[in-house]
Amino acid sequence: MSITFPTNFQWGVATAAFQIEGGASLAGRKPSVWDTFSQQWRRSSRGHMVPMGFAKPPHLDACDHFHRYQEDVKLMAALGVTQYRFSISWCRIIPNGRGSVNVAGFEFYERLLDCLEAHGIEPVVTLFHWDSPLALENQYGSWRSREMADDFADYVTAVVTRLGDRIRHWITLNEITCFTHLGYNDRVPPEHAPGTIVPRWRDVWQTSHHALLAHGLGVQAIRAASPQPCRVGLVDNFGITVPLSETPANITAAQAAFPYHCNNGGLIYPAITGQYHAGFWKTLGAEAPQVQDGDLTTIHQPIDFLGLNIYTGSHIRAADNVRGYEYLDLPSGYPRLDMPWLNFFPDSLYWGIRHVSETLNRPDLSLIITENGCAAQDEVNAQGEVLDLDRILYLKQHLQGVARAITEDYPIHGYYLWSLLDNFEWSWAYAKRFGIVYINYQTQQRIPKASYYWYRDCIQAGKLL
Ligand code: NOJ
Repeated sequence: MSITFPTNFQWGVATAAFQIEGGASLAGRKPSVWDTFSQQWRRSSRGHMVPMGFAKPPHLDACDHFHRYQEDVKLMAALGVTQYRFSISWCRIIPNGRGSVNVAGFEFYERLLDCLEAHGIEPVVTLFHWDSPLALENQYGSWRSREMADDFADYVTAVVTRLGDRIRHWITLNEITCFTHLGYNDRVPPEHAPGTIVPRWRDVWQTSHHALLAHGLGVQAIRAASPQPCRVGLVDNFGITVPLSETPANITAAQAAFPYHCNNGGLIYPAITGQYHAGFWKTLGAEAPQVQDGDLTTIHQPIDFLGLNIYTGSHIRAADNVRGYEYLDLPSGYPRLDMPWLNFFPDSLYWGIRHVSETLNRPDLSLIITENGCAAQDEVNAQGEVLDLDRILYLKQHLQGVARAITEDYPIHGYYLWSLLDNFEWSWAYAKRFGIVYINYQTQQRIPKASYYWYRDCIQAGKLL
């Protein structure tokens, strides 16, 4: 489908502090849970970092964006993006998680904001992208405690008070399940920081409930501290149920399955609707989290947009069973990208937008694709180019889903590609490359890949080329 995208469509790229900044101990920053977790990881038997041959723990440098932000902003300017989504690191701003504010931390983000402004790129700021201050983990178990929500709100107040005159788009939290359910569970080895084993599922659900509270208090804090009108949103990753074929029966099946499938039983429902989804209580029973009086009101703050991080999906078709639908297993030869979970589901963007719009009973809610992209086995060829034609295929097919949603009048207003740069891919460290700019981690050289030029041309033309 070749359409011209609306002129005010937001074309962006996205990154996150811990994945690109480096400068781990510079300008007063103190460790986050990922600083320590990624070092344990390096020693673990899975050891994805070992083949990279780093002499020191690589998370200390990442893409060295802390020093090279000007070069990176220039790359964005030449790309033509209108928006840059990045995150602020809590432990740069309040190194101990609570208490005194670190001015040098603010100054880094002020330099970055100056540079973005000089190039006419609008900042979209995520206030939390998984890097909880280690001090709070040591003090009270961070997300295991309700105190975390209050400390988060204080941190948000500090950021918005100082930077709020220059930022009009705020995101409270990124992908709640990834820093709660993947960080606190019974898996060995754990997948995400802090990697704490908790005895019961109820404890796991309690961490995500606290994160929802942090979101609610965070929204209130932004609105109270912002010196200018601003837009506030929440970003989450959604499991997308894609009808096997678009018959009315399969579409109904995909819609019925969506609230259960997306996000561990619709984790973000309380933020959007004020209630956990009915199926949530039924499924969890005694493992459901403790919800205190007033929590749901706090969590259910009006938001201006919802950010969808969508990478893949699952096939659903109507079935003659109690639920009325069934999931279909993928055959071993099914196309996938360079991540075990990254099966090729280009229709997931269209269906994600449509499901969210139709099943959350908020057809008015503005939606942004806050992340979409893929890992690929990129290599620099003899001519010095990175011909990531697989990524171009992926991006083009996925963006067609956005185009379709626009023509069908769904409220989708932007697309932020993940990611500008290859970066620290959490428990995969540097073994997975999601960037449209290649990073040579030995030299920190940046090499725009073929997908960078393809995206640039699309933005310029306002259509998929
Ligand atoms: C979602 C996360 O927000 C981001 O940090 C991560 O790198 C991408 N998914 C790819 O896994």
